[in-house]
Amino acid sequence: MDLKQQVAQVIHSSIETSLSIEEIQNLLEIPKHDGHGDIAFPTFVFAKELRKAPQAIAQDLAPQMQGEIVDHVEAVGPYINFFLNQTLITQAILEEIYQAGEHFGELAIGHGENITIDMSSPNIAKPMSMGHLRSTVIGNAIANIATKVGFNPIRINHLGDWGTQFGKLIVGYKKWGSEEAVRANPISELLKYYVKFHEEAEKDPSLEDEGRLWFKKLEDGDQEAYELWDWFKNESLKEFQRIYDMLGVKFDSYNGEAFYSDKMPAVIDELEAQGLLKIDQGATIVDLEAYNLNPALIKKSDGASLYITRDLATAIYRKETYDFSQSLYVVGNEQSNHFKQLKAVLELMGYDWAKDINHIPFGLITQDGKKLSTRKGNVVLLEEVLNDAIDLALKQINEKNPDLANKEQVAHQVGVGAVIFHDLKNDRLNNFDFNLEEVVQFEGETGPYVQYANARAHSILRKANFDPAAIAEGSQFNLESEEAFQVLKELNRYPEIVASAYEKYEPSVIAKYLLSLSQQFNKYYAHTRILTEDEQLTARLALVYAMTKVIESGLAILGVEAPTEM
Ligand code: ARG
Repeated sequence: MDLKQQVAQVIHSSIETSLSIEEIQNLLEIPKHDGHGDIAFPTFVFAKELRKAPQAIAQDLAPQMQGEIVDHVEAVGPYINFFLNQTLITQAILEEIYQAGEHFGELAIGHGENITIDMSSPNIAKPMSMGHLRSTVIGNAIANIATKVGFNPIRINHLGDWGTQFGKLIVGYKKWGSEEAVRANPISELLKYYVKFHEEAEKDPSLEDEGRLWFKKLEDGDQEAYELWDWFKNESLKEFQRIYDMLGVKFDSYNGEAFYSDKMPAVIDELEAQGLLKIDQGATIVDLEAYNLNPALIKKSDGASLYITRDLATAIYRKETYDFSQSLYVVGNEQSNHFKQLKAVLELMGYDWAKDINHIPFGLITQDGKKLSTRKGNVVLLEEVLNDAIDLALKQINEKNPDLANKEQVAHQVGVGAVIFHDLKNDRLNNFDFNLEEVVQFEGETGPYVQYANARAHSILRKANFDPAAIAEGSQFNLESEEAFQVLKELNRYPEIVASAYEKYEPSVIAKYLLSLSQQFNKYYAHTRILTEDEQLTARLALVYAMTKVIESGLAILGVEAPTEM
């Protein structure tokens, strides 16, 4: 129920005004203070028209505001504060959530259009880092949000499986590696070669040339190079898959950079034909001075392709294959220049859909304030983080609820959910510090706190043998409690929260909302004996049930599971 819209209608029909309902609606505010009612209307807008002070206008107009959903109004300073008819609104909101069930919050902003979402996209032969975790969970949540508002997301894992680093890796393997070692411990072993390569190359720069040469061989289809690359890639994918399974994230495509290696020449030809290419110190570039950007490096002097060349081919392929209405790239903030260049080159090539390309950047995860980086081997292995989180969750369950039946499973849901939630509750552009102990707390602004509120609600419903199907159409939900009304108003905000998360591509809007909803619910729970047998029992249970529906929907969007007991 759109309360602001309802109040705007009341205002519109109660007084003479040139403002439209929508204009009035946009002026309405939600008072910060409980005593100021449910919705406030600032009367400043009329000051000029009526040549009166807003305080006086509020006093004059307040008595005229009349409508079914208004219980009473108060003029406070320049504001008219609306106190709504709780009985009527309670009834309307609970009915709405009941009828919608898990569809509550769905919006028809999209009409089935495709949105491609480039997400996760780790680099082969390196461990998946916390940065890739961010891309994976943010991308997955944005895809879920897109679904909720009517689009068809396509999750694409643009694997980093092509580029000079594979030349370096082959050199490293040939110099210091062994087959058994790689088979036994693929990623950590391959990472060793990569780290060692960089250490040695500082002393002996000719190694860099060797690395470039091997990548050139790979691009030219050399068999030995190809077989090593293919093997490294398959071993890496197996390890990544374990992590995706833990996170519960699936992809529609794993077409990575290598997939585009045979699609680049066509792009380069097209650039050439349009006269966009220039030779600069032996390298082939597209000048982007007009965009105030550095030139895009399309081909190195040895002819090897580059990251952006592959991204150009990728963007065109995606448009041809999916005819997207939006093409999103969930990639760290540090690559924003790259995506500006990509967009600019596509625009120069005359693709009007370049405007639909949107880089969704995010900040760094730090540890003790320091950036995590693979190259120096200073890496937090994501799988270890997840496993530690699960252990911590199990420890807490053992303390709080030792008799819980499926402890291991719940610990998995809570541990993994905690890591995902922690990542998503921060505005995605913020850098944040990762401290596992804090992340897996059952109290505070954490995923387990939200999961726990939901599990507690379920335990109430179980005790009451509550059967949602038994609630007849036309049931009266009479709830005379201020705390209950606060929870209700919060539940009612869910659709607008989903819309705002979509508009900003910002899952944190949902995570923060779930925290606030859980807090409201816990307040209600602390204040009210929900299971007391009286004439409001059904209404209270209906509220608790509606709360579980909204929390579960929100957590599902974030990719966090919701155990019904923990
Ligand atoms: N593999 C890259 C990295 O880890 C991210 C790829 C992002 N996607 C893209 N189409 N460029 O830095």
